[in-house]
Amino acid sequence: MEERKDVLILAIESSCDETAAAVVKNGREVLSNIIFSQIGLHTLYGGVVPEIASRKHIEKINQVILTALSEAGVTLKEIDAISVTYGPGLVGALLVGVAEAKAIAYAAHKPLIGVHHIEGHIAANYIAHQELEPPFLCLVVSGGHTHLVQAEDYGRFRIIGRTRDDAAGEAFDKVARAIGLGYPGGPKIDKVSKEGDPEAVSFPRAHVGDSPYDFSFSGVKSAVLNYINGCQMKGESWKQADVAASFQKAVIDVLVENAMRAVREYKADKFAIAGGVAANSALRSAMKEACEEQGVTLYFPPPVYCTDNAAMIGAAAYYEYLNGTRHGWDLNAVPNLKLGER
Ligand code: KG4
Ligand code: ZN
Repeated sequence: MEERKDVLILAIESSCDETAAAVVKNGREVLSNIIFSQIGLHTLYGGVVPEIASRKHIEKINQVILTALSEAGVTLKEIDAISVTYGPGLVGALLVGVAEAKAIAYAAHKPLIGVHHIEGHIAANYIAHQELEPPFLCLVVSGGHTHLVQAEDYGRFRIIGRTRDDAAGEAFDKVARAIGLGYPGGPKIDKVSKEGDPEAVSFPRAHVGDSPYDFSFSGVKSAVLNYINGCQMKGESWKQADVAASFQKAVIDVLVENAMRAVREYKADKFAIAGGVAANSALRSAMKEACEEQGVTLYFPPPVYCTDNAAMIGAAAYYEYLNGTRHGWDLNAVPNLKLGER
């Protein structure tokens, strides 16, 4: 049998507030994964400031890429393709990565592969689970997206549900700010909820009438704000940990319920979670319990591959590379790129 040559991909990710580069072998083996997080910079403003993010990406990107190559112990010459997130995300932030990837690919005579950010999040599961292959169902929950996706094949997806308003991570971040936890909200709510009672306050579980797989999180966010304002007006105190835990439970209940409805309807035997909110400990344990009950195998990446990173982009890019995807020098950042579009 002919042995296939190893494929080494240099991946770049700059869609939001992480400047990241990685070297990935054959889509599954991470040789390096360098992440420069700008979180500290944006904390001061209570969220990501796009202009600051772009400027910081420019400052950091060369260094992050050089470190990724040296930690992997490979030279640019040995790299088979350069891949980069080209959407969705903040346009100015994306442009830094796209311009950098094009410059490197052009100068080093390497193929260029643009990757959809969400496809990257889903592919993070390929790194963590060598045996995982499509088809499977996937819940992508991040700061910008909440999608229930049927991964039909490598690089082929069907969206079966999505949020109608806020993304799950966005709701975590907004509620965290409202209850005085600050930015970034997700990890802080996760932590403080461990000391709270998830049944303390009853927040609404929104169901979108005409689509059993769609989500809506703006209602639960408003309910938290109303609850706090109500307490303040009545001169009553409220417990931060209880509000956090009750909010978190309301979000997770809906995520798990819709996910399991899809499992039954699509007769899935494999379910994956991905994106920053997939790092949430309560979501992970609720999904584990629900999947066990349904007899479905659950997959999730370790937290470092849930939040933004370039290794996941390298994993997705490998399968695009095998499929023959190659982008030209006219590749542009597409802030609202749809999954499945090319
Ligand atoms: O995937 P990601 O790094 O960026 C986007 O593509 O949006 O996700 C970031 C989001 C933020 O909203 C953050 O608060 C949330 O993921 N997040 C969490 C946790 N860790 C990160 N949400 C809940 N629990 C966590 N442990
Ligand atoms: Zn992301």
